[in-house]
Amino acid sequence: MSRFPHAIGRRSFLAASAAAVAIGPGCAGADTPPPGLATRPGLGAIAASKNILFGACSRGLIPENGPFRVGNDAAYSALFQHECRMLTTEYEVKMPNTRPRPDTWDFDAADMLLDYATKSGMAFRGHCLLWSSVMPKWFAQEVDAGNAEAFITDHIHKVAGRYAGRVISWDVVNEAITDGDEAAEDGLRRGPLYDLMGPRYLDIAFKAAHEADPKSLLCLNQDAVEYDVDSQDYRREKTLGQLRRLLDAKVPIHALGIQSHLEPGWLKFTPEVLSKFLDDVAALGLKVFITELDVVDRRLPADIPARDQGAAAAVQEFLAVVLPHPAVAMINSWGLSDRYNWIEDSGMRRKDGRRSRAQLFDDDLAPKPVYQAVVDALNAAPARSAPLTLLP
Ligand code: G3I
Repeated sequence: MSRFPHAIGRRSFLAASAAAVAIGPGCAGADTPPPGLATRPGLGAIAASKNILFGACSRGLIPENGPFRVGNDAAYSALFQHECRMLTTEYEVKMPNTRPRPDTWDFDAADMLLDYATKSGMAFRGHCLLWSSVMPKWFAQEVDAGNAEAFITDHIHKVAGRYAGRVISWDVVNEAITDGDEAAEDGLRRGPLYDLMGPRYLDIAFKAAHEADPKSLLCLNQDAVEYDVDSQDYRREKTLGQLRRLLDAKVPIHALGIQSHLEPGWLKFTPEVLSKFLDDVAALGLKVFITELDVVDRRLPADIPARDQGAAAAVQEFLAVVLPHPAVAMINSWGLSDRYNWIEDSGMRRKDGRRSRAQLFDDDLAPKPVYQAVVDALNAAPARSAPLTLLP
């Protein structure tokens, strides 16, 4: 009998039971409980005492891609359930996964994650409905300027509608603003969505998401707006411009997501610059979600104690700006343990071949200095007037 009888198809369950848990070399196994759980409150509990929602992303079972981590690795699941009050989909509701072919849908992995979050008493966050950098290969053949609006509207109705009422927040559009050659005159990223519909694709997407799931907090999720460099000044300016345009057009949008993939040892961090950006977003009446917090440590020393201290310092200085701001209602970490770390499968890996230590917990699920930096920042944060809830 499947552990998730109503959530996954037979194919996925068989793959799940067969999938070996791919754990990094030399670390404790899935049956070694995380150290110290009984000795500390979870991050989600600490955050909740201030009406802040804390969670992390995780991945459902995608057979070609290895284990349903929170479903197959009992120790990791125990840590996830102890620390998180929210689960964000890492890949499962992105179009290439939900729609492998134009007329074929696959919600198994997303259903698994929703089922896990629900059974774990967690909020569920959908990331993301549209991302022009991650579109299915068939999109260009199937969608043109003539049918793009109807296609995008139908797609979002289908995906967001499936989970309506159960998603605290949708990242409706991811990384819409960019800089340099990829940016059109309004800062919007050129690509299959902008090229077919122009800036209106944002309006179309958010309206469709609100029609499908009127209770969900709809978020425009943005990367590379945290640091005091020209390219990110440009992004902040253009992001504010799009938010103002959408709000003036009465498009339903409730939050700006700041991804927060911190990268110490490289870009200049100026607290006043980030603080003013938060003020500017909040002045529009929007909430701010920290949506993908982690530390890209490729420019930190190889030595692990020094590297961990560098990561902790980066998160400490960032949260010292972010958490005092009342508009910031959520922190989502982009992963939880170095045991499963997206960076190892990305171009952000360290040049020296050492495994990234981007996450709050190490391979053995033990807290690192960066974990303590988050605890200290949450404990110092002012309490929000009310917790984040679905819209009425
Ligand atoms: O599942 C398919 C598989 O069927 C196919 O054979 C294989 C071929 O490459 O791809 C598999 O999908 C992979 C997917 O993760 C699931 O494992 C994609 O290749 C891979 O690109 C994808 O990586 C994700 C990436 O976003 C792109 O979607 C990472 O896990 C995820 O951590 C990363 O997260 C992004 C956020 O969405 C946006 N902000 C940046 C962040 C880090 O890049």
